[in-house]
Amino acid sequence: MLKVNRNIVTLDEFTINQLRTFSAATGELSALLRDIGLAAKRVHVEVNKAGLVDILGDTGEINVQGEAVKKLDVYANNQFVGVLKHGVSCAGVASEELDDILPFNEVVSNKSKYVVLFDPLDGSGNIDVNVSIGTIFSIYNRKTALGTPADLQDFLQPGSQQIAAGYIIYGSSTMFVYATKLGVNGFTLDTSIGEFCLSHPNIQCPAQGQFYSVNNGNFYEYNKGVQEYIDRCQRKDKSNGGPYSQRYIGSMVADVHRNLMKGGIFMYPATIKKPNGKLRLLYECNPFAYIVEKSGGMATNGQNRILDIIPTELHQRTPLFIGSKNMMTELNECVMSK
Ligand code: AHG
Repeated sequence: MLKVNRNIVTLDEFTINQLRTFSAATGELSALLRDIGLAAKRVHVEVNKAGLVDILGDTGEINVQGEAVKKLDVYANNQFVGVLKHGVSCAGVASEELDDILPFNEVVSNKSKYVVLFDPLDGSGNIDVNVSIGTIFSIYNRKTALGTPADLQDFLQPGSQQIAAGYIIYGSSTMFVYATKLGVNGFTLDTSIGEFCLSHPNIQCPAQGQFYSVNNGNFYEYNKGVQEYIDRCQRKDKSNGGPYSQRYIGSMVADVHRNLMKGGIFMYPATIKKPNGKLRLLYECNPFAYIVEKSGGMATNGQNRILDIIPTELHQRTPLFIGSKNMMTELNECVMSK
């Protein structure tokens, strides 16, 4: 006889229950997370047939970051923009794939209190080779008055002001992980019922891990402090928990997800060629910094807490160091002393 698990909690059920405890809850945030989940399911379907349809490869266009745009990037961007635009909980979006902010500027949207920033498909260089990729998002309360169109000041807020942040990893299974001030929870897509189901409640990043994730090919472009830390990762012996294993996929979502679950540190430092690093503050670093801090870890640019950086540009970049508390503390000793 078919066994039915009646203890399943879906993403919608969980968010509605959890967010009820917010004093000013109107249901908008859970509706917004549901909309993001819907777009994620559509992207999941397309990612899983990427090898079968003509969706791989470049569109021939270059995005605002100067990178080749993949067809699946465009598809994912359109899904997230479309779902959020037609929902009732979002006043406007900013995306890695769009030069400027996109205020929806319709009667219902103007009444919404949230704006969303996202990277629709992080790690897109990995699409063609069947390696995990992801979506990253960040949610803020708008600063402009309800009833008016959203504008740039709604999007240029420090990460500490995030109301919620999350990511979807399209991996061996598809997972939706999000954080609010109440904590971090993970949901795995059950494709048989088309629902994200609670699978990783109350995620805590272990204080110490065994993995370090960095592009070692850039080693001689990093500053002395970063080089010293990488050297320490490799020189540790068993008595002090090492040596750590290096794991670097080239999809931050996958690398940080693993380190969040198992403990570890992810670094994208400044290089000589890229003095501000590669990763984008608003829709890559801030959401992960929020999630990792809420699970007990830390995130800095090598000097300051990521969540304290006051943004000045939509697509600004920052060096990023993020992960387990003890490993971040040791990294800080190395980078602060140089
Ligand atoms: P993209 O989405 O353009 O493929 O960028 C991916 C990001 C990030 O996810 C990853 O960790 C990093 O770029 C890898 O960059 P390097 O190849 O320079 O190490």
